[in-house]
Amino acid sequence: MPKPLNLVVACAENRVIGRDGQLPWDIPEDMEHFHRTTAGQTVVLGRVCYQTWPHVSLDGRQPVVITSNSSLIDPPANSAGSVDEALSIAQSLSGDIMICGGQSIYEETLERADRIILTLVQAEIPGDTYFPEWRHLNWREIVKRGSSDANYRYTFSVLERVR
Ligand SMILES: NC(=O)c1ccc[n+]([C@@H]2O[C@H](COP(=O)([O-])OP(=O)(O)OC[C@H]3O[C@@H](n4cnc5c(N)ncnc54)[C@H](OP(=O)(O)O)[C@@H]3O)[C@@H](O)[C@H]2O)c1
Repeated sequence: MPKPLNLVVACAENRVIGRDGQLPWDIPEDMEHFHRTTAGQTVVLGRVCYQTWPHVSLDGRQPVVITSNSSLIDPPANSAGSVDEALSIAQSLSGDIMICGGQSIYEETLERADRIILTLVQAEIPGDTYFPEWRHLNWREIVKRGSSDANYRYTFSVLERVR
C-alpha cells in the first residue's frame, strides 16, 4: 500500500500562500505547528522553498526537493526532477509524506492528496503565490481548532479526502 499524501499549507481566504518569496505573515503559532507537524517526516518541496528553509534537515526531516538542477541541492537532501519522481523517492523513505509546496507542487498534487493539513488564515492577504482551490473537492474535516494572535485569526484543520 502506498503511503498517504499529506499537503501541509497555511493559506489565506483568497488562497494566498506567499509574497516576494516569503510567507506574507508572521504567525509564530503556525510556524511551531508546521515544524511540529513535519518533524521526523519526509518533506517534499520545490527548490525555492528549499532555499528559504536552510535547516530543513533538522529534527529528522528527510527532504525531497523538486528541481531541474540537482546541483542546487546539498546532501542529505534528495533531489528529484519531477513531482512523480519526488513522490516515488518519498514512498521509499521512512515517515509520513508531507508535501510542503510551493504553488506548482501543490497544483500537481492536490488531486491525489489524501489529507490537507491546513492553517486557514481568516483574512484576504495580498500575495503572488497561491494554493489551488480545494473547496470543490470532497473533504471530511477530522480536526478543527481556532486560534488567534494580535494580527490574525486562524484555524488549524485536517481535511481528509472522501472519494
Ligand atoms: N504558506 C505556505 O504554507 C507556503 C508553503 C510553501 C511555500 N510558500 C510560499 O511560496 C513561495 C515559494 O513557492 P514557489 O511556488 O514560488 O516555489 P517552489 O515551488 O518552492 O519552487 C519552484 C521551483 O521548483 C522546481 N519545480 C517546480 N515544479 C517542478 C517540476 N514539475 N519539475 C521540475 N522542477 C520543478 C523549479 O525549480 P528549478 O528552478 O530549480 O528547476 C521551480 O523553479 C514563497 O513565497 C513561500 O513563502 C508558502
